[in-house]
Amino acid sequence: MSCEFQPGTLTAIVGPNGAGKTTYFNLISGQLPASSGQVLLFGEDITRMGAPHRTKRGIGRAFQLTNLFPRLSVLENVRLAVQARANAGKSLLVTWSSHVELIRHAEQYLERVALTSKRDTIAASLSHGDQRKLEVAILLALEPEVFMFDEPTAGMSVDEVPVILDLISHIKAQGNKTVLLVEHKMDVVRSLADRIVVLHQGQLVAEGAPAEVIAMPIVQEAYLGVARG
Ligand SMILES: Nc1ncnc2c1ncn2[C@@H]1O[C@H](COP(=O)(O)OP(=O)(O)OP(=O)(O)O)[C@@H](O)[C@H]1O
Ligand SMILES: [Mg+2]
Repeated sequence: MSCEFQPGTLTAIVGPNGAGKTTYFNLISGQLPASSGQVLLFGEDITRMGAPHRTKRGIGRAFQLTNLFPRLSVLENVRLAVQARANAGKSLLVTWSSHVELIRHAEQYLERVALTSKRDTIAASLSHGDQRKLEVAILLALEPEVFMFDEPTAGMSVDEVPVILDLISHIKAQGNKTVLLVEHKMDVVRSLADRIVVLHQGQLVAEGAPAEVIAMPIVQEAYLGVARG
């Protein structure tokens, strides 16, 4: 079975622990080479392309902590992402010459994830939830076409969760970005997803509109029976 993800839509990828959701993300973003099958991005075959090239083509993934420069401040972390994007020369940012402009844009991304008050904090000393918000700010700064979120609110406190969910729904509302979301919380999936894809034992077993998929016996048994939250 193959899957297509359309710009302007959010697809939730669900399945029990160990179903292969993160592995599927790794195949799409290029962290793992595919042993068979194809990955196409805007019609182009990227199956043999490494992760850095896929990032340049517009695949953006929030990596748990591995993207952060732990000894730099929150603002510096985002500023470097803004600069990387500017240097890639694919956006208006390329015309920015001043450091001040880069910082101003970095601040805007921090504001979107509600981290403004922590701008001068060293990344390593942030709480887990704040580090995850910082990853999302970095992801926003890279301006990808495809946003991949793997359990973005895992480990966040209840008051932090809505910030990230609002942000994801705003990205979707832009109308031109493709959003893939791995999420265990069914209420989140219900409220954000246009479509659900179900993975089970490494296979894509179902896909469709949320209500339709949630009602499927395989989802009721295989997924909801062991859901975490
Ligand atoms: N299609 C597959 N064929 C063989 N092994 C697979 C396949 N998909 C996943 N695996 C293996 O199954 C294990 C768990 O997969 P993965 O981490 O992707 O699960 P997950 O759905 O993200 O689970 P969780 O909800 O716990 O994060 C990994 O060791 C992975 O290598
Ligand atoms: Mg996983």
